Amino acid sequence: MEQPATQPKAQDITPAKGKLGIMMPGMGSVATTMIAGVEAVRRGMAKPVGSMAEMGTIRLGKRTEDHSPLIKDFVPLAKLDYLVFTGWDIFGGNLFDAAKTASVLDRDQLEEMRPFLESIEPMPAAFDQRYVKRLEAKTQKKGKNKCDLANQIRNDIAEFKSKTDRQVMIWTGSTEIFLTEKPVHQTLAAFEKGLVADDENIAPSMLYAWACLKEGVPFINGAPNLTCDIPAIRELSKQMGAPIAGKDFKTGQTFIKTVLAPALKVRHLGLNGWYSTNILGNRDGEVLDDPDNFKTKEESKLGVLEYILQPDKHPDLYSDIFHKVRINYYPPRGDNKEGWDNIDIFGWMGYPMQLKVDFLCRDSILAAPLALDLCLFMDLAARTPSLKHLGIQEWLSFYFKAPDSAPGLPPEHDLFIQSMKLKNTLRHIMGEDLITHLGLEYYSE
Ligand SMILES: NC(=O)c1ccc[n+]([C@@H]2O[C@H](COP(=O)([O-])OP(=O)(O)OC[C@H]3O[C@@H](n4cnc5c(N)ncnc54)[C@H](O)[C@@H]3O)[C@@H](O)[C@H]2O)c1
Repeated sequence: MEQPATQPKAQDITPAKGKLGIMMPGMGSVATTMIAGVEAVRRGMAKPVGSMAEMGTIRLGKRTEDHSPLIKDFVPLAKLDYLVFTGWDIFGGNLFDAAKTASVLDRDQLEEMRPFLESIEPMPAAFDQRYVKRLEAKTQKKGKNKCDLANQIRNDIAEFKSKTDRQVMIWTGSTEIFLTEKPVHQTLAAFEKGLVADDENIAPSMLYAWACLKEGVPFINGAPNLTCDIPAIRELSKQMGAPIAGKDFKTGQTFIKTVLAPALKVRHLGLNGWYSTNILGNRDGEVLDDPDNFKTKEESKLGVLEYILQPDKHPDLYSDIFHKVRINYYPPRGDNKEGWDNIDIFGWMGYPMQLKVDFLCRDSILAAPLALDLCLFMDLAARTPSLKHLGIQEWLSFYFKAPDSAPGLPPEHDLFIQSMKLKNTLRHIMGEDLITHLGLEYYSE
């Protein structure tokens, strides 16, 4: 098949030479589980289960050609041996302590990696308790205003740059209180004035995003925070050629929801109600126990059904849905979340039916490979001329509960469309034919 003149070529992508530095604001359960997991894989103690970048394959050419290399052999991704980690938190100590507190991984497993984990110490964070009410800082940066704090983060990044060849930042910090777009978020100039004026609409996560992009480093948002989903930060991202992607890792209940909802939709089965509830007992659960912080998560989780089911186009099936999402902090379960879904559907002639899902999952075990993939793919985006100046990397929406998309463009939530979009983007940047799944050629030849 002939390719358009603008077709990118594999050789345009800068090779992944040297060390990739991963910077993580918030070194709690997800961050420690990801870092310990990478080290375990490097030592041959574990396989990178759940990582598409490490374990996934990609079909090239016709189905009859049977050519499906590993993604990591097809696109030039950083190798796990070349990853270096740093980050920020408010608890002091080192990552061995943080991983013990998180209680996700077995003590014996952590002991085996103890010297490695002890060698990483989070730097003092830019933190403000007004945005994460349930946490109290043991250590944090002090500065005369938000601009000063953001510049201190820039200095930390600059220091890390001297030890690594390329960098990405991924927010694995707490969910902040619910914020909406305000005038200070509308332009980069207004935002930078707001930093000096200590504007209350600028949350700590935005300080990291701003500092990161100013340093030309890609930024990923693993939480549902507003952070980089504002015009000022998008403008900076494009200006600096430093990609952004968000928001909120799609790990447990929403992952399953974005599989089941498209299935109901394609079968044209109706929906009356979808009640989702969770119990979890980790620190994330504690933070989300505050109504202002929960509101941020709730918004991120609720958007999904509306976009997938398109009630405006299918009023007979989806115009009257009762959709509820609850998260209950229940300490005995720790990181082992249980998510229940009760789904009231109806079929032919309106006869009602029910679906029940009980997902006994592990929050950070699901999130860690997503965080890893995002770092590897964002580093790739930053080395790819046809991607790096686009700002939002919508092709990574596969990983997010509330994917950022261009203003006015509805996000794509269906997990399988998202996965096709991701793989087709990889084919596109490597100059390969896209796969449309049309398949008529198998019958006409
Ligand atoms: N399955 C999942 O685990 C999952 C899924 C989707 C989203 N998330 C989001 O990922 C984030 C991390 O989850 P987690 O389970 O690791 O939570 P966690 O509470 O274990 O870790 C978050 C860490 O961020 C730190 N922090 C808070 N504000 C900070 C700041 N301003 N600067 C630096 N550090 C700061 C906290 O002290 C804490 O150690 C949360 O926002 C969570 O909602 C997690």
